[in-house]
Amino acid sequence: MTAKTPRRAPPRKPRRATPAAAPPTPAVGTVPMGDGSKPHPRLGLGLWALGRWTPEDEARTRAVIGRAYELGVRWFDTAEVYGGGRSERLLGEVLDRAAAGAPDAYVATKVSWEHLRPAQVRASLIDSLERLGRRSVDLYLIHAPDPRVPLSGTLEALEALRTEGKVGAIGVSNFSVEDLEHASKELSAARIVVNQVRYNLFAREEADPVRDYCRAHGILIEAYTPLARGLLHGRYLEGKGVPKEVQQVTRRLFEPDRLPEILERARALRELARSAGVPLASIALHWLERQGAAPVIGMSRPEQVDSNLAAWAVRPTDDVLDRADAIARGDRA
Ligand SMILES: NC(=O)c1ccc[n+]([C@@H]2O[C@H](COP(=O)([O-])OP(=O)(O)OC[C@H]3O[C@@H](n4cnc5c(N)ncnc54)[C@H](OP(=O)(O)O)[C@@H]3O)[C@@H](O)[C@H]2O)c1
Repeated sequence: MTAKTPRRAPPRKPRRATPAAAPPTPAVGTVPMGDGSKPHPRLGLGLWALGRWTPEDEARTRAVIGRAYELGVRWFDTAEVYGGGRSERLLGEVLDRAAAGAPDAYVATKVSWEHLRPAQVRASLIDSLERLGRRSVDLYLIHAPDPRVPLSGTLEALEALRTEGKVGAIGVSNFSVEDLEHASKELSAARIVVNQVRYNLFAREEADPVRDYCRAHGILIEAYTPLARGLLHGRYLEGKGVPKEVQQVTRRLFEPDRLPEILERARALRELARSAGVPLASIALHWLERQGAAPVIGMSRPEQVDSNLAAWAVRPTDDVLDRADAIARGDRA
């Protein structure tokens, strides 16, 4: 991960604070939060790797956000480091123009792992709110822990921001069980309600102890990279060799020597999806949902929004999800 401090942007007039209780989003659904904060949508749009932030990329991202909102997506996941602040700014602009300023959006952003000292946390949030054009965010996450900075000060700053109403709920990302235990001891009034981790059918072992801890402590797992960068949508499955492009995309997901085996399992999953008459992405997303995780999907084109929402609308049977689980684990029985 490389953090770029976002450029300070000229302030925009805050549109409005998001209300405490959002209307339900029937297309996606919500889960209640353990701290009584605004219900959390079950599926979200992630606004991280959306091209190189050229004007064309930005226009496409605007279209993606607009289409997602139109189809009932309400949870938007961004961060101060995404595009050096551009991601937050674009999101703010599009939501501002959506119906009545999209008061039912569930906006989540993150403080960089480079800004975890108390004064930095506050300054980062103020800058994020300016870029988003909002008076508050629904969820504020610590992007990743920094072992050099005591967590106590970071959490104290977050609790103060929550008391002031600038932050609806406090979450973390990339936290281990040890980090979570430490954080829960440091908080006085608030709770950690979310841990955002990489989690998909093929990236699960390392997340499992974390998942167990979160489930036992009422912490919602937000699953990032839920489609394994498109692989679990059926991408990269043609051809015998492993194209360079695939190796590059998956380098940070799997050990390179695991890739041929992963592709074989992904093809078997595709066959399962075909025989069950459901899209492969339905299996990937609902497998996560059945684990109690909420997928946050990166989508770089409006057509991907349509296709992923259509996949979400189809729930495979438990039997199909069990078989998918076994195939992804490498169980050939
Ligand atoms: N907290 C953290 O440290 C962290 C780390 C990583 C990600 N995240 C969050 O999680 C979000 C999603 O993660 P991710 O982008 O790594 O993984 P992902 O959702 O598994 O993959 C996203 C990519 O998959 C492809 N894709 C999506 N829908 C598709 C479709 N219908 N058909 C074909 N391809 C499709 C697209 O690739 P193309 O763009 O190439 O078409 C898209 O950019 C991020 O945006 C971010 O919000 C958080």
